Amino acid sequence: MDEIILGIESSCDDTSAGIALNRQILANVTANQEIHQQFGGVVPELASRAHQQNIVPVVDTALKKAKIKPEQLSAVAFTSGPGLLGSLLVGTSFAKSMALALDIPLIEVNHMQAHILAHFIEKEGMQAPEFPFLCLTVSGGHTQIVLVKSHFDYEIIGQTLDDAAGEAFDKAAKIMSLPYPGGPLIDQYANRGNPERFEFAKPRLPGYDFSFSGLKTSILYFLQDKVKGDPDFVQKNLYDLCASIQTTIVEILFDKVEKAVSDLNIQHIAIAGGVSANSLLRSELEKRKRELGWNIYIPDFEYCTDNGAMIALTGYYKLIHRDFSDMTVTAAARMKL
Ligand code: KG4
Ligand code: ZN
Repeated sequence: MDEIILGIESSCDDTSAGIALNRQILANVTANQEIHQQFGGVVPELASRAHQQNIVPVVDTALKKAKIKPEQLSAVAFTSGPGLLGSLLVGTSFAKSMALALDIPLIEVNHMQAHILAHFIEKEGMQAPEFPFLCLTVSGGHTQIVLVKSHFDYEIIGQTLDDAAGEAFDKAAKIMSLPYPGGPLIDQYANRGNPERFEFAKPRLPGYDFSFSGLKTSILYFLQDKVKGDPDFVQKNLYDLCASIQTTIVEILFDKVEKAVSDLNIQHIAIAGGVSANSLLRSELEKRKRELGWNIYIPDFEYCTDNGAMIALTGYYKLIHRDFSDMTVTAAARMKL
């Protein structure tokens, strides 16, 4: 039987709605919030207000694009956490009202599970990973290495103890007075720079956990010192700085992924999250495919960043397992995978 699921994502600063027909995505519509640019990061209060404004048009547009009438929906899935509470509550309340009005099942979705299950979207050119696989989820809010044993069986084997990888990019960019989010700009400038020009501190942590706060401090102190001697130091060395910072972050990530691959003897590696758009991260992954025989899985960019399609897809898997939520369900800022 065909199932049609509406997925709603509102955990951070993207309001997104996706429509899945089984594992195919019929529409994936996202409203980004530009309001945060001027503040150098996401402002929670402004984010929830913007979700309120965006959610109705975003869901409406997704339904129209998919050529689906609300009465045709089999279920409504929504992100219940982890994320910013005020933002999550907008999606949660909207999903509840819609499920209630249409008298269809309501399905809560863990955002981190959805990032992983996005790899199972059925689309030409996208291949689903084989179990077990390792998923490196890297974004502005998350950095995890997850051992994925089945659609519903996960083990987090490593995660960040402080900042996420995207946050490291964004905070480094902010120190250099670049606008938020700085990750894509650092990527762009790094292409023109020398990655070996500057060296920054890398953490020495046992196991598979990450830490990025030391790197941020190392960049800050280094630049404060240089700017004393030359106020235009950042401007003059921007490309080399970006290349060196990007290389350090990508090396920190790969040190742990490589360790996990060799310790666990798993050759299937997937990536997810906004930072997986990074060109060095992608080329380093491709290199390991060629040189080490890794099987790599990179979803289309629109399914890597926060999106409603991954929520709809996770909703599909939960629907076929009859894993529904009742109307007392609520959002939570912190949530285990
Ligand atoms: O997944 P995402 O859209 O939202 C969440 O944070 O959940 O990820 C956004 C993050 C930001 O930190 C942004 O700077 C980073 O992904 N990002 C990048 C690139 N594109 C986006 N970081 C490095 N290189 C990129 N090309
Ligand atoms: Zn995310």
